[in-house]
Amino acid sequence: MVHIIAPETQGCYGVAIAAAGPEMFKAFWPAVRGNYFFRNRRLFIDFMRQNEGRIYYVSGGSRTGPPFILVGNWRSRTDITALWHIKGDGIIKKRLVRVAAASSFEAGSDRFVTKPLGECEADEYERWGFEVLCRILLLEKRLRRESESSAGLEADVEIVRYRKRYLDDVLSLDASAFDDFWKLDAHTLEAVATSCYRNAFLAAKRDGEVVGYAVGGANGRFGYLQRLGIHAAHQGEGIGEALTRRIISTLQGMGAVSLMVNTQEDNDAALSLYRKMGFETMPDPRFIMQCTPRGLEQSR
Ligand SMILES: CC(C)(COP(=O)(O)OP(=O)(O)OC[C@H]1O[C@@H](n2cnc3c(N)ncnc32)[C@H](O)[C@@H]1OP(=O)(O)O)[C@@H](O)C(=O)NCCC(=O)NCCS
Repeated sequence: MVHIIAPETQGCYGVAIAAAGPEMFKAFWPAVRGNYFFRNRRLFIDFMRQNEGRIYYVSGGSRTGPPFILVGNWRSRTDITALWHIKGDGIIKKRLVRVAAASSFEAGSDRFVTKPLGECEADEYERWGFEVLCRILLLEKRLRRESESSAGLEADVEIVRYRKRYLDDVLSLDASAFDDFWKLDAHTLEAVATSCYRNAFLAAKRDGEVVGYAVGGANGRFGYLQRLGIHAAHQGEGIGEALTRRIISTLQGMGAVSLMVNTQEDNDAALSLYRKMGFETMPDPRFIMQCTPRGLEQSR
């Protein structure tokens, strides 16, 4: 079903933006393929179903696929809509963003957030009524052969492979470690833990209790430390360092020769840990931008 939601006239040509019905989602798969969040078709279709994914596109036919925007709930939050993918430039891009944001606000969201953007793109969104939600730093470590065999011993934890029965413990420690915006739900955790071609999911246990976890992955030579969380009651006890050492050696064993991680610019504990482990900050920060109904209204 095609539902034209925003017939627009821009300059000398008309731009009609339509909402894609669920039966059309599969047709957009080739265009979103390769997006970090949709590493395979199953993850894409699951996301659309579970995160109330919506696609708005410029109707009127284009042989190479129309400009479109894909949005959905931020993790399990129905009050925050996230922009996960956009194809389009200039005035068309602006119209897509504004239509998607306005539709989300009408549906009950009170915030519309972007994925991490480079500085130029963040400036563009600022002109459209967005503001900076947070600055993200990217860090990289070149992997050399290092002895990691003792990881865990100093912190008096056992580091084991994740098992499904740890899920509740991992989610509750995650909620204790991260604030409301960043905490993970089960579905997003699964998506993160399966997002690379080879994945590693480690848990740190002490006295039978899961007190920390780390998720990493490797795509060929490129490794990613995707998530690291230590229960709030056990931070500062060497567990984060032990997990980081072990995930580094695991990803190295999968063939990674460089490892990337990102974190918020004001996360002093994480930045200090990563720098201690030999990560170096890369030059260009990323920006997550957000817009509220008021910001959208004021920037007309
Ligand atoms: C960041 C985090 C993973 C660190 O793990 P941890 O187990 O608390 O840290 P460790 O005890 O292993 O400390 C290792 C190093 O981290 C740094 N560090 C840890 N806590 C710190 C703090 N409160 N302030 C500054 N640096 C800190 C230090 O460099 C420390 O080395 P040192 O003991 O020689 O000074 C943990 O605090 C955490 O889960 N925080 C919330 C979630 C998060 O931010 N995750 C990572 C970003 S995605």
